Amino acid sequence: MNATAAVAAAVVPAAGRGERLGPGAPKALRELGGVPLLVHAVRALARSRAVGLVVVAAPPDGVAEVAALLDSHGLDGKDLRVVAGGATRQESVRLGLAAIPAGTGIVLVHDAARPLVPVDVVDAVVAAVRAGAEAVVPAVSLADTVKRVAAAAAPGGPEPVLDTPDRATLRAVQTPQGFLRDTLHEVHEKALAEEADGGLPPVTDDAGLVERFGGQVVVVPGHEEAFKVTRPLDLVLAEAVLARRRASDGF
Ligand code: CTP
Ligand code: MG
Repeated sequence: MNATAAVAAAVVPAAGRGERLGPGAPKALRELGGVPLLVHAVRALARSRAVGLVVVAAPPDGVAEVAALLDSHGLDGKDLRVVAGGATRQESVRLGLAAIPAGTGIVLVHDAARPLVPVDVVDAVVAAVRAGAEAVVPAVSLADTVKRVAAAAAPGGPEPVLDTPDRATLRAVQTPQGFLRDTLHEVHEKALAEEADGGLPPVTDDAGLVERFGGQVVVVPGHEEAFKVTRPLDLVLAEAVLARRRASDGF
């Protein structure tokens, strides 16, 4: 692998509104310990020696604001770019990917909404791509049993259960997900072409696109602290995790 390929670039989709979090600022700008979620997420990536460039896909009307915000928080000497995101997560990632030099070997995609991912997870994902995988996702096993259901007969009514997949074979996937840059670029272009033909709906994770087009995705261990801030209770949990870190190591 040449020198350019050895340094990974990261795309951070941060253009979502955070509707499930409730009214307030766009989710990426909501604060955790007095610092925006996005800044935590970018710092978590920048902590990895493997990451040389971070591209943030910001809300289209907030590019200048996000760039100023990241500037004011400093980034440990990494390259940083802010681009306008899109209407779906998939589109935001594609637009972020377009700002990464074609010669880059490895690309990570990391949700702005996962502010507390430990650097060991970032490094493990990069290491698995370096070791030969084209697509890598960090994941954890499930605490709850999961059931597949069909639509309720009447809106709001009970949903009939179809079946119960064996929990031991299920994983909840997190980010950063890691890819060979060429693989990720190719599947995003294919998905865009399909979409124009009225094809499948957008995916909620990038590895899903690799699967859709026949690539091999592998799983490495994720971390419970890499959870996604989605609902109000997640912010309470994130505050508690951050307070514990600050108490234990002056994080
Ligand atoms: N995202 C994005 N562009 C979009 C939608 C989502 O960049 N058009 C990003 C979010 O900013 C977030 C990540 O994708 O960092 C994961 O998405 P999710 O947790 O669903 O965030 P939101 O879409 O903002 O939340 P919600 O679905 O509750 O509105
Ligand atoms: Mg969403």
